[in-house]
Amino acid sequence: MDDAQEIRRRRTFAIISHPDAGKTTLTEKFLLYGGAINLAGSVKGKATARHAVSDWMEIEKERGISVTSSVLQFAYRGYCINILDTPGHQDFSEDTYRTLMAADSAVMVIDASKGVEAQTRKLFKVCVMRKIPIFTFINKLDRDARDTFELLDEIEKELGIATCPVNWPIGCGKAFQGVYDREKKCILTYEDTQKGTKEGESREIPIKEEGQAVSAIGREPLSLLQEEIALLDGASAPFDLEEVRKGELTPVFFGSALTNFGVEIFLQYFLEMATPPLPRKADVGLIDPVEREFSAFVFKIQANMNRAHRDRVAFMRICSGRFDAGAEVRHVQGNKVMRLSQPQQIMASERKVVEEAYAGDIIGVFDPGIFSIGDTVCMPKEQFSYEGIPTFAPEHFARVQQIDTMKRKAFVKGITQIAQEGAIQIFQELSAGMEEIIVGVVGVLQFEVLKYRLENEYNVEIRLENLPYEHIRWIENKEIDLDALTGTSDMKKVKDMKGNPLLLFVNAWSVGMTVDRNQGLILSEFGRD
Ligand code: G4P
Repeated sequence: MDDAQEIRRRRTFAIISHPDAGKTTLTEKFLLYGGAINLAGSVKGKATARHAVSDWMEIEKERGISVTSSVLQFAYRGYCINILDTPGHQDFSEDTYRTLMAADSAVMVIDASKGVEAQTRKLFKVCVMRKIPIFTFINKLDRDARDTFELLDEIEKELGIATCPVNWPIGCGKAFQGVYDREKKCILTYEDTQKGTKEGESREIPIKEEGQAVSAIGREPLSLLQEEIALLDGASAPFDLEEVRKGELTPVFFGSALTNFGVEIFLQYFLEMATPPLPRKADVGLIDPVEREFSAFVFKIQANMNRAHRDRVAFMRICSGRFDAGAEVRHVQGNKVMRLSQPQQIMASERKVVEEAYAGDIIGVFDPGIFSIGDTVCMPKEQFSYEGIPTFAPEHFARVQQIDTMKRKAFVKGITQIAQEGAIQIFQELSAGMEEIIVGVVGVLQFEVLKYRLENEYNVEIRLENLPYEHIRWIENKEIDLDALTGTSDMKKVKDMKGNPLLLFVNAWSVGMTVDRNQGLILSEFGRD
């Protein structure tokens, strides 16, 4: 297989969902089809997943959760699939957002009994900003679910994306009978698969074969299905692959990850509809993944919490060409030609040294402290930079107080370095220096990580005083007169590390009010250089 074929068979995506919607279960089933595991659950069962990469950070071991995200790679029907794990639960952090910068598409898993939930909403915004295709899998149909039309309506209204059901559920909970495939005009019957440990023997029945359809699902469910299909055909957006690829229309699938129903159908449609790695924007124009030689950008830096080995790993998304472990590359921002040290693929269960990798793949390399998030690596003869990664809005804020003020220098060094790695963001009062620091984080666990790391790596103790702010906005039009800006009484004016002005608010209402009161003010949820 040549390099172009290797690149074109790659599909790199992230799964976004609210905790407990079924992301892990769905991933397990994908791996089952990919032959990466024999029995669902044997590799990425929750218990093993938890221990898989956790030697990275002591804090993970202490709390039994995985802060690190990983990449799973497997082959299926000639495709090479990279699934980027987005950490959920309270270990949700900026890294979760940044992972989406490395994906070419996203799979959104929604619990059919709950609909759109908070975390999905947040991650969805990043997908929209990037205009990447989003595929929806509505899960847990083997349990009681909300009305299907209502669920689709919610996705459209809450997320602002048109939906196009590729299949349609027949009943739910105990009465779940399968799905109707709109393209094939067939009923796919649901069989219990002993909790999904084996593939179900689903039957495919053309809906026009009424006799067969009635004996498969019953007369009443069939009439209801026919009614719903008629309604759907009249009401839903027509399927348009171009719109899917622009991120304006989401194909919707229904199933049950736990019992392994609808998963393979979903995977097959997804692989056909999703794109291979696409050209990416750089300061010299678009970089084609196939035509150009190796290039990559850093989207995540993982500091090792182990005091004995203060190494860091930089995660890179390869954007073009083939990566050869022995070859020299240029680190553009550091203006240095070098070999990437210890390149590895980070899998859930292991870290494997890689000799070669292709556009679409993710590699982790040893970082002696030279890489920053957003940096570009390319061939020595080239010199270009990929578009930067935005700063995502933190949602929790605290004032940092140093306990031993004698250690000022170590404190400033430590907190600045940790902020540079991208684990936290630091802000200051407009007129103040480093004496008054406000820390902002996307997930509250990052506060603990900060405290832990300052103590262990810099020998500095801090106290964190929680602040009530929940919303942060960057001021897009920097020419605006900050002193003249009038906001609500809860608003606070601060600046970030690069000196950009920002506003902090306690509630969303104040954000709207401030925009109303200041003509021409443009606020953004994402910070850019
Ligand atoms: P997450 O990664 O999105 O957080 O969700 P995860 O897959 O861990 O699933 C959360 C819970 O929902 C798990 O149950 C899982 O078994 C269940 N689940 C996932 N998909 C389905 C489905 O299609 N149908 C039904 N009925 N349940 C589903 P748990 O009891 O919390 O964990 P476990 O003990 O089963 O691991």
